[in-house]
Amino acid sequence: MSTSSDTDRDSALALADLRARVLARPLPRHVAIIMDGNGRWAAQRGLPRTEGHRAGSESMKAVTRAARRLGVEALTVYAFSSQNWLRPPGEVTALMDLLVEYIQGERAEVLDNGIRLRAIGDLTRLPRQVRTPLEELCLASAGGRGMALTLALSYGGREEILAATRALVESAARGEIRASDIDESRFSRALWTRELPDPDLVIRTSGERRLSNFLLWQIAYAELFITDILWPDFREADLLAAIADFQLRDRRFGKVAAK
Ligand code: IPE
Ligand code: IPE
Ligand code: MG
Repeated sequence: MSTSSDTDRDSALALADLRARVLARPLPRHVAIIMDGNGRWAAQRGLPRTEGHRAGSESMKAVTRAARRLGVEALTVYAFSSQNWLRPPGEVTALMDLLVEYIQGERAEVLDNGIRLRAIGDLTRLPRQVRTPLEELCLASAGGRGMALTLALSYGGREEILAATRALVESAARGEIRASDIDESRFSRALWTRELPDPDLVIRTSGERRLSNFLLWQIAYAELFITDILWPDFREADLLAAIADFQLRDRRFGKVAAK
């Protein structure tokens, strides 16, 4: 007869085996995740949407730990889009409160593990009680030499491209650069993600097959992995499965496959 501790041991062994297989091949340097499906997870349980967000915040912690332990260089998570401001005020407030809890609760995890926390997006729209501790932890963790963890908050890819364009035009108007100086590399350095390599792998949970304004410039050649799993159910094994799938892809970048 198998007991629940047998089952726990079997799944721990399966996870260790999957981890070892993933570590045997090159990892994606930068993994970006569209964390979707919190509302549907809650609805399936007859719970308010905010409970889905609370559960989703646990997935974010678990996946961050898993990515860091694996040795992924950069992890970017889409936590709140520019368009999400149009959700009902109660849901927006609940999400902001969860962010404050997340920042306070993860402080030790970030600092003790050398994680470099950054936030990208229009942070001026965030309430003070989010922005102050967020900026404080970003600053405190800036010297970390471990994984770069980027929170996309009040973020939109189009908004980011417009902000970069404005900055470049202003710089040209001041006579610092000429139009012909603006190449891909300079444009990338004008984006909020300037310190990061482009994502190699984009994961979207909850089965939606769209980008929803996420990192539009940066993911030109990213591999996409879409799973039906709802974000609150997403854990280390699911991250490993996505990376294992990525490791089987033939990335051609428009060229002919290398032999
Ligand atoms: C993702 O879950 C979290 C945010 C966008 C803030 P959703 O809240 O979009 O959940 P669904 O898509 O409605 O299930
Ligand atoms: C994308 O999810 C934004 C985040 C995950 C933060 P949405 O739920 O907002 O996207 P749509 O509305 O399905 O495109
Ligand atoms: Mg959604």
